Amino acid sequence: MSSGSWEEFFAVHLPPTDFEDNRSLLKEFCERHDKYGNRIALVTSGGTTVPLEHNTVRFVDNFSAGTRGSASAEYFLEHGYAVIFMHRQKSLEPYTRHFSGQKLLDMLELDERGPNTTITVKPDSVDVLAPVLARYKAAHSAGALLHVSFTTVSEYFWLLRAACECLARLGPRALLYLAAAVSDFYIPKDRVPTHKMQSASGAPIIQLHLVPKMLAPLVSLWVPNAYVVSFKLETDENLLIPKARAALDKYKHKMVVANLLQTRHHRVILVTPEASQEVLLTREEVHAGVDIEATIVGEIVRLHTEHLGGPSVR
Ligand code: PMT
Repeated sequence: MSSGSWEEFFAVHLPPTDFEDNRSLLKEFCERHDKYGNRIALVTSGGTTVPLEHNTVRFVDNFSAGTRGSASAEYFLEHGYAVIFMHRQKSLEPYTRHFSGQKLLDMLELDERGPNTTITVKPDSVDVLAPVLARYKAAHSAGALLHVSFTTVSEYFWLLRAACECLARLGPRALLYLAAAVSDFYIPKDRVPTHKMQSASGAPIIQLHLVPKMLAPLVSLWVPNAYVVSFKLETDENLLIPKARAALDKYKHKMVVANLLQTRHHRVILVTPEASQEVLLTREEVHAGVDIEATIVGEIVRLHTEHLGGPSVR
């Protein structure tokens, strides 16, 4: 089934209910940082859902937990960028990602003796918590980090376009880092039932349609002067580089970060029109908890700085 145009997609899918609130936040954030000549990185993170019912009980989803995006946002902040962190609701977020699951509770001590209950950080956890907390506080007190969230693929595209419209004013100081795992397939709105599908009606036959590639209008129309980095995810090594190169040829943006599902947390290839550079963590680095995103972001910041023809922001 061929995809409709991106204009049709926006014409058919209404904006999410919190869209105007998010648009105001994005506008204020971009205007403020533009005024100071700052760079802004838009980091997209996590997977998008495709609802099977309007009153959604069931949906199609994907594997992404937002590990890449949430870690990368922290490294852009460290390099002095302001960051719009556009993420799937309930996926990993910068700073809190270090303490997901029970980790945070395991770091605390509870004392219920005496008249007042007290909670303290265990002495051996202070060294772990303190540096992350300090970086979190610094990012927030500088007003350098804005969170906006989506769940469905259509919410993602509405937010993405709004963010681009606000970022356009920064010209080449805007950097887009499109790490979210965006669905390529969806069910057009008029084919989605209103209510929960009933098993008594038999097994449903669901026809998915292609989502238009939003990279096309993004690069050519929405932020034509921004530094755009897209991602390419494959499961077959043989397809990875050819498809990354094909994307660069087609959309004419700056870089594709190519990764395989199976090895994505210790190996990526940074593909530019001029070159390919492999980033690989050693087994020891993986065990020591080194983030591959530190190197990916470091290299992108270096190239972005070169592109701007000036010194790094930090
Ligand atoms: O979250 P993690 O578990 O850490 O995993 C990280 C990751 C594997 C999700 C990340 O590294 C990654 O590869 N993200 C992109 C996955 C993806 O959507 O790849 P794709 O090959 O399907 O799409 C290529 C590009 O096209 C993407 O940058 C996407 O933003 C864009 N796209 C996709 C669909 C669509 N309709 N329009 C688009 O513009």
